[in-house]
Amino acid sequence: MKVLLASRNAKKLGELRRILAAEGVDGIEIVGLDEVPSFPEAPETEPTFEGNALDKARDAALATGLPAIADDSGLTVEALNGMPGVLSARWSGKHGDDQANLELVLGQLTDVPDDRRGAAFVCAAALVTPAGQETVVRGEWPGVLVRERRGANGFGYDPIFVPAGETRTSAELDPAEKDAASHRGRALRLLLPALQALTQ
Ligand code: IMP
Repeated sequence: MKVLLASRNAKKLGELRRILAAEGVDGIEIVGLDEVPSFPEAPETEPTFEGNALDKARDAALATGLPAIADDSGLTVEALNGMPGVLSARWSGKHGDDQANLELVLGQLTDVPDDRRGAAFVCAAALVTPAGQETVVRGEWPGVLVRERRGANGFGYDPIFVPAGETRTSAELDPAEKDAASHRGRALRLLLPALQALTQ
């Protein structure tokens, strides 16, 4: 059975395929947005990760007739009352400018002491079937934000995020280590029972 992951990001597609294989889920072929006829993609305007993930999955299932998975993720910073949150990708005002977004958060935290620099990466993942059955889950990856960027792996805020129990930033973890621990990995694994149920 084909299941659409509403993304063009090859890393996200690869990660979901690896998780399905590792957990022994058979009978599901994950396809990306580039493998289905194009349809209008609405901007992410909901105030929650779950709302955005559900909107994207609903649109994708309706447009393609396939069961669809979508995710929405970001960084929540305690000292910023949970922001940038759903605005993580455009915190500096320019969508997808990872460098500017990271610099802005670092600047905002300049005077915040080390014991109040808690943060978490959050990922909501939704699965919606063409018949309208909906499942939405949330994975969280807690940690702290350091003052200087370190590491060259990953993207976004990875160079300043040190996961709980680690001394390295998430940009210093190798991709397999990050997949095993990350918010996205956690959310996708929580979605597996609902995915598996599609094949029964
Ligand atoms: P989206 O879920 O693809 O819309 O990503 C939202 C934004 O959250 C990204 O542009 C990054 O700024 C941030 N983000 C989400 N996941 C990660 C991660 O694993 N590492 C670093 N930044 C992330």
